[in-house]
This record gives sequence, structure tokens and C-alpha cells, in this order.
Amino acid sequence: MTSASGAAALPTLAALASDGRRIVMLTAYDYPSGRVAEEGGVDVVLVGDSAAMTTLGYATTREITLDELLMLTRAVRRAVQRVPLVGDLPFGSYEQSSESAVATARRFVEEAGCDAVKLEGAGAMAARVRAIVAAGIPVIGHVGLLPQSVTSPDGYRARGRDAEQALAIIEGAKELEAAGCAALVVEAVPSEIGALITERVSLPVIGIGAGAATGGQVLVYHDLIGLGEGHRPRFVRQYATARETLVSAVRRWADDVRTGRFPSDDEGYGMPAEELAEVRERLGER
Ligand code: KIV
Repeated sequence: MTSASGAAALPTLAALASDGRRIVMLTAYDYPSGRVAEEGGVDVVLVGDSAAMTTLGYATTREITLDELLMLTRAVRRAVQRVPLVGDLPFGSYEQSSESAVATARRFVEEAGCDAVKLEGAGAMAARVRAIVAAGIPVIGHVGLLPQSVTSPDGYRARGRDAEQALAIIEGAKELEAAGCAALVVEAVPSEIGALITERVSLPVIGIGAGAATGGQVLVYHDLIGLGEGHRPRFVRQYATARETLVSAVRRWADDVRTGRFPSDDEGYGMPAEELAEVRERLGER
């Protein structure tokens, strides 16, 4: 499969950013969420490795396999036809060598139709970015909180709240820009650090818990629509209560089945009386 919207798709983010328009990125993990994201008018869809937790029920993002994420990404690509689609390189699929990074990125483009890929981290990861970009695949970098480095639920704290760590994150953002990233995700850093990164790089900066000064925002689909369970990070604004709505729908249906209110006559199929009579007759019924 090749990309539906083409390799030129990501520069649209740069164009949006240079027009001063805020980029809207949302995650999606399957066909219905992809359809909702696109119909909702977002600028770019990310099949995040957060799928590990939102969709596959793993405890951390580190557990999802490349094949699992590719399968979900293909489903989203079938839904997302008009805006760029970004695949997220999962833990263990790109860090070891530039060869593995390029091979994994190619799978997202060739097998799942992605327009770009995202990977986490700077430092040694800048070389991976360079290699993937040299192979002709746009890359989105990711600094600040790096979920693939988190091994327990209490690890999802903001990063860069002390000067040392904040400076390292800013430095990482600059390294990723120099390595050729097309855009940057900045996650869970103080708003001031989100603003400093945005001022210091000329890439579109897409924040999640990085304040209002970044050139765009990304949220996890399940957080936005209220489909998740458990701890809700402070940067999440929930625009719907989908989980409550869905659980209530299932409860009402189960109740209707148990009390005989479902199905009604209108919710079944009929057949011509003479055909039914023939069935009965051939079954030996009078
Ligand atoms: O995996 C993901 O959903 C992400 C976003 C939080 C940016 O990386």
C-alpha cells in the first residue's frame, strides 16, 4: 500500500504553521476513530503507540509490537483519505541501528500507507532521524515526556521542571531540527518550556501538555472523547463522555433483552404467509 495523500503531505503542516494557523493533530487507532478524526476536521492523524494502552489494554506503550501497530495503522489509513497520516515507531523497532529505523519506517509507508513517521527522543535518536529522512520519509520528533521510557504508571510526570532537564529538552529539540525533522511533538513540559522550544526552532511544534504557545496541539482520541479509564492527565480536556454513553447503551439493551422488550416485531423480518404455510406443511405441522 502506498500513502493516500502523498509524501508532500507533511509540508502542509509547515505551511499551516507559517500562516500562523494552529495545527490540530489527533490520534486514531482503528477505522471508526479514523473516520471521526477526519470528519471532525483535524489537520493530521497520528496512529500513536498509545494504542498499546487505549486499544490493546497493555499497561505501557512499550508492549505493543510492530505488527500490531501496523495492523491498526492500516485500518486507520482505510478511514483517513484526505489528511496526512503519521505512524509511530514502536519501542524496540528503531533504537538499535539506523538500518532498523529505516526498515521499520519503510514498513509504515509501504504496508500501512503512512505519510510520515514519529519516533521518541533526541541524542542518539538524531542519527535515526537523519537516516530515515535520507531514505525519503518525513519524520516527526518527540521530546519532553517520552512514554516509551516509562515503565510504571507513576512515571507519567511532567519533564523539564528543573533548569538542567529543561535545557536538555530544548537542546534535544534543536538536535532533532538539525537532523531534519519535519515537525516536533513536545509532551508534558512546563508551558514556558513549550514556548521557549517554539521560539527556538523553526519547525511546527505540536504540544501535548506543553502550554498554549506551541504551533499546534495533539490529544489522544480516547482522552478527548472520554472513552478512557483511570487517571486523566491535567492537560486533557474531555469534550464528550463516550464511555458513560456506551456503557449506558449496553446496559439498557441488556435490560430490554432480559425483560422481553427487545426485539420488537418491527425489528425482525417477515415472510409471505403462503411461504410460511408451506414451511409448516413440509415440516409436518398442521
Ligand atoms: O502515542 C501517542 O499517542 C503519542 C501522542 C501522545 C503524541 O505519542
